[in-house]
Amino acid sequence: MNSSPKPSLFVPDPETIRRSRIPDYDGFYAASVADPASFWGNVLKDLHFTKAPTKILDWNPKSFEARWLVGAEGNICENALDRHVRDGFANKVALIWAGDRGEEDIFTYGRLLDQTVRFARILQRLGVGKGDRVTLFLPPTPAQVIAMLACARLGAIHSVVFSGFSQAALRSRLEDFEPKVLVTADCGYRRGKRIPLLETARAARKGLSSIAATLVVPRDASPESLESGERALPDLMEEVRFDGPLSPVPVSCDDPLFVLYTSGTTGKPKGVVHVQLGYMLGTYATTRHIFDLRDSDVYFCVADPGWITGHSYIVYGPLLNRATVLLSEGTPEYPDAGRHWSLIERHRVSIYYSTPTTIRLQMRFGDSWPANRDLSSLRILGSVGEPLNPEAWHWLHRVTGGKLPIMDTWWQTETGMIMVSPLPSTPEKPGSAGRSFPGVVADVVDASGKSLPPGETGTVVIRTPWPSMFRTVFRDPERYRKYWTEIPGAFFSGDSARRDEDGFFFFLGRVDDVIKVAGHRLGTAEIESALITHPKVAEAAAIGKPDELRGEIIKVFVVLHPHATDTPPAHEEIKKHVRTELGGIAEPHEVDIVISLPKTRSGKIMRRVLKAREMGLPEGDLSTLED
Ligand code: WT7
Repeated sequence: MNSSPKPSLFVPDPETIRRSRIPDYDGFYAASVADPASFWGNVLKDLHFTKAPTKILDWNPKSFEARWLVGAEGNICENALDRHVRDGFANKVALIWAGDRGEEDIFTYGRLLDQTVRFARILQRLGVGKGDRVTLFLPPTPAQVIAMLACARLGAIHSVVFSGFSQAALRSRLEDFEPKVLVTADCGYRRGKRIPLLETARAARKGLSSIAATLVVPRDASPESLESGERALPDLMEEVRFDGPLSPVPVSCDDPLFVLYTSGTTGKPKGVVHVQLGYMLGTYATTRHIFDLRDSDVYFCVADPGWITGHSYIVYGPLLNRATVLLSEGTPEYPDAGRHWSLIERHRVSIYYSTPTTIRLQMRFGDSWPANRDLSSLRILGSVGEPLNPEAWHWLHRVTGGKLPIMDTWWQTETGMIMVSPLPSTPEKPGSAGRSFPGVVADVVDASGKSLPPGETGTVVIRTPWPSMFRTVFRDPERYRKYWTEIPGAFFSGDSARRDEDGFFFFLGRVDDVIKVAGHRLGTAEIESALITHPKVAEAAAIGKPDELRGEIIKVFVVLHPHATDTPPAHEEIKKHVRTELGGIAEPHEVDIVISLPKTRSGKIMRRVLKAREMGLPEGDLSTLED
């Protein structure tokens, strides 16, 4: 998909460059990496701290510990809300919510702050204080944003679990995170269908002694009857009605903001830990420069706050920039294929941050959907999650008027912020994510860590620490170390890429056992672990198979238990089993029942061979194959 012969070059018009905050990328970038402390120190001036940092960065290259803003005290919620209210923007719209069933709600900065303070009060009543852990299992609604900000205000640590996850997936995250409080909703909506979240949460939390209380937020008007240990949000709102203001709790440079679980190469998802202050600096700076936010902008990112994109670029980054954020529940094809274009027209959206799968889906639906809407408010476009192929780039560019810059942003849950991206003032090549963000040193290297020349494909690493980097893997410091020891002296991303002679990155995909389905990250081992819990399945292998729409789809190969071969399970039964174990996003698209799997002599499944066979490619070196 990335094999267009010679990419075209798009150069922004001189007026855009002149207006930009970084009109000269090359000079600016060179200065930023020559002296990162002054680059980041400058960004810092826009933010508010109750105690200024004594040192920008304390980096220990032996333990890979990076302490950003040593000695500082502050709070990210204070910077995202109170600071703007104090500056006279209480009446500016902070959040517009578009519900799946056509509902709408609007929050000014004043109202969002007020609701956040109340929510924080409620959490406090339930025993939550600084350093306590809270799991949020909520649909993409204002309550989800408010709950995140309320945790941050208290210095508590949130872990948001995507509301599309199954009971078993939520349970394994609760078991690892051991929250004091679980916040959920009676339900969510997707394509008009009710998703019973409270039911899932009840089943998932059974017997987990850490959870002292479950807070239930109403998404529907219909009140649920509560079980013991559950409290309804409206009742508690009533109780805290006359409580006074609640000051944000100052935190220091090592205090965590959240843990977000993501897939890796083992069966168990890892809890990526981010800290408040460094994360604040990185998300603030990237949102400001990549999306060039101004006070008149309406900013729409299509992600769900349940993923890192939503954390950094729906909630924290944009609110730190005093943006007006549109949050939409549901999918791009409901109630019709013009969902996003209608929202852009209705709310005069100026910045639209989407995903390659969404763009390719819209492309399939056809030009008439965007053509029938007034998209003249748009000024900057963005994409994230997987490579944006040139065809999709050109289509999006054309249907939005043929002039707008498209920020193809590369980053990860671990990086917390965008690492490689064009800026509105820099040239773009369709199929490329541009170059490193100022202050970031991304590189393409061989196995020994040596930089590769233009045109050669290698592994993507980051050479120096960046402010919003993850600080550890929750309860698994060894797994954190692995990121820094795989390639000597650098952070290993798990991606492969090549650069061209101008230094532009072309990302090609993962080099590890992680697959990307419609931008969602899944571990093959995770899918396999789910498959073998099916009573009829003896062995299983999962691979990502290239797909025009979704980038990759999940194909699984299963070997049945001898007793099950007389009554083989239906393919649908196997798919449904994974859906129940992990959630809809992990459901295999194709199932093959096979007699055996290719394995090394030491018994490791050779997924590489399965993938090559599947794609009709040479199978490569088979010298370690068992049979
Ligand atoms: C992986 C990280 C970071 C937000 C969403 C995903 C892939 C992400 C791009 C891009 C090519 C991309 C990489 C990366 N990826 N953005 N612009 N071009 N690939 O976060 O779930 O942590 O996944 O997504 O493979 O490693 P995530």
